[in-house]
Order: sequence, then structure tokens, then C-alpha cells
Amino acid sequence: MAERLRHLVGIRDLEAEAIQHLYALADQFYEVLQQPTRKVAALVGRTIGLLFFESSSRTRISFELAAKRLGADVVSFSAAGSSLEKGESLLDTAKNLLAMGLDACVVRHSVVGTAHFLAHHLPIPVINAGDGTHEHPTQALLDTYTLRRHFGGLAGLTLTIVGDILHSRVALSHLLLAPKVGLRIRLCAPPSLIPPLWYGLGYPIYHRLAPALRGAEAVLVLRLQRERMKVAPIASWQEYSRFYQVRPEHLQPNQVLLHPGPINWGVELHPAVKDFSGVQILSQVTHGVAVRMAVLYALLGG
Ligand code: ASP
Ligand code: CP
Repeated sequence: MAERLRHLVGIRDLEAEAIQHLYALADQFYEVLQQPTRKVAALVGRTIGLLFFESSSRTRISFELAAKRLGADVVSFSAAGSSLEKGESLLDTAKNLLAMGLDACVVRHSVVGTAHFLAHHLPIPVINAGDGTHEHPTQALLDTYTLRRHFGGLAGLTLTIVGDILHSRVALSHLLLAPKVGLRIRLCAPPSLIPPLWYGLGYPIYHRLAPALRGAEAVLVLRLQRERMKVAPIASWQEYSRFYQVRPEHLQPNQVLLHPGPINWGVELHPAVKDFSGVQILSQVTHGVAVRMAVLYALLGG
């Protein structure tokens, strides 16, 4: 039995056994979501705070639905319109919400380490919903859960990650998750979109799309994260698309295509891939609710 989770700040802190436990819980919650009521009274009486200091569509709604499907109450905090605008600090904000009775908080912030900081200072479980360019652990869990459901397992599969790896917290969470589940990772991007230190980690790095995708069971395409680019790391968006945009002719019939969203159609993905049989992008979103139910239950249930 895996040791009980206290927080989910990053994949770095999850043992292989804990990951398998989360997948198994997600399987059970996925079944709950297929039932007419789609609910289970596992966290009745618990209150979960969603603290989003950076924009989100999927992750925020997915955590809210996951909490509600488990019978918990949810309170949502947005930076805009809050007393942060009057100079209140992050920690004071969190402590005030805690004083109203939060049992756990889910946090997204543009600053690396925010979830870790809150986990250190708050006596409740903290879940990282994305901290800057660092980690997005539930995204890596739901991506791999999607592959696990599709292929029946993960060990020995090859996943090629293509795109803006430099600014992506999804990529780092995958890099940390892969060895714990036996997944093989390949990276593909222009040299300026690969973190320099990653060249020494032993993962195959490609600068051309075709060989990077050849023979891989799955492809995870990442968005160009313009909001995190202070100096443009590529000379021309058009040339990026010419050499790195994933188009139907790059994909092999049995491959699975993933993207965490939001998608810049026409930049990292050609709109025609919507018709490719291996597209699992909306399945990722569906599975995200079950995976987040699993995470909330692992932290607060029982
Ligand atoms: N939504 C994901 C994230 O917040 C990926 C992205 O924004 O491109 O990291
Ligand atoms: N995949 C993801 O994190 O999407 P959002 O940024 O919309 O939450």
C-alpha cells in the first residue's frame, strides 16, 4: 500500500506505487462517471478551494467538477477583483480562505514554486494546478491515464513530445513521470525551445519531426507559450509551423495524438488532424475529471 499522499506539488514527489494507486482510483471514478448520477458521496462535508492566479479553462473546471462529483463543496478564488489588488499577499489570502474552513486547495500561479510554498506554510493538502514553467502534475497523470486506457498499459510505449518544451510545465512533469511508469520519452523542438540542461539527461532529442514521430506509439504536441516568452526564441512563427507543425501526413495509423490544450490551430497543429483517427484530445479532458477525483480522494478521502 502506497504511503498516504499529503500534497501533490509535483510528479517529483510521487512514488511509482502512488501513481499506480491513482490510476486504479481513476478507473473506479471513471466508472462512477458513467452512471446516471455521476456522483459518489466520498468527500461530503469537505471544502476545496480553487486558487487560480493564472488563466485556465480545463484544469479549473475539471477540478471543480471532480470535487462536486465527490460530494465536496467548492469555493473559487480569482486574482482579478480580489484584495490582492489592494496589496494583500498570497499567503495572507490563503490563510484567510483557510480560516473560512478550506480542507484542501488547488493552486495555479505563474511563479515557479508557488504550490510548494503554500504546501510548506499551510496545514492542508495543496495540489499544484501548474506553477510557471515548472510542473503540472495532474496534466501528466491524465495524459498517461489516457494512454494507459487506450493501450492497456504504459510500459515500453514511446511518447514523442513536440513543441515548446522550454516553457512547458507539462513537459517537465512528463519527464519526471515517464521513468516511474516505464514510458520512453523522445523530445522534438528547435534547439532554442529545449532547456539546455535537458541535453545531458539521456532522452533522445530531435530537431526534425519525421524521425521523432517514426515508430512512436503516441505524440504529445505542446502549444507555443507566447505569454512566457520575453524574447522570441524563434525567428519566425511561419517557419516554426513549416518545420514543427504536426500535420496528418506525419501521423501513422495506430498512433495516438495528444495535446493538453489550449490549442493554437494552424501553429503547432494543422486543423486537418481533427479527422485523424488517433486524436484523443477530448478524451484527455474527459479522463481529467476522473484523474482529479482520484487525486482529491487520495488526499482527503478515507
Ligand atoms: N494548459 C497547459 C498549462 O497550463 C498547457 C498550455 O497552457 O499550453 O500548462
Ligand atoms: N491543459 C490545461 O491546463 O488547460 P487550461 O490551461 O485551460 O487549464
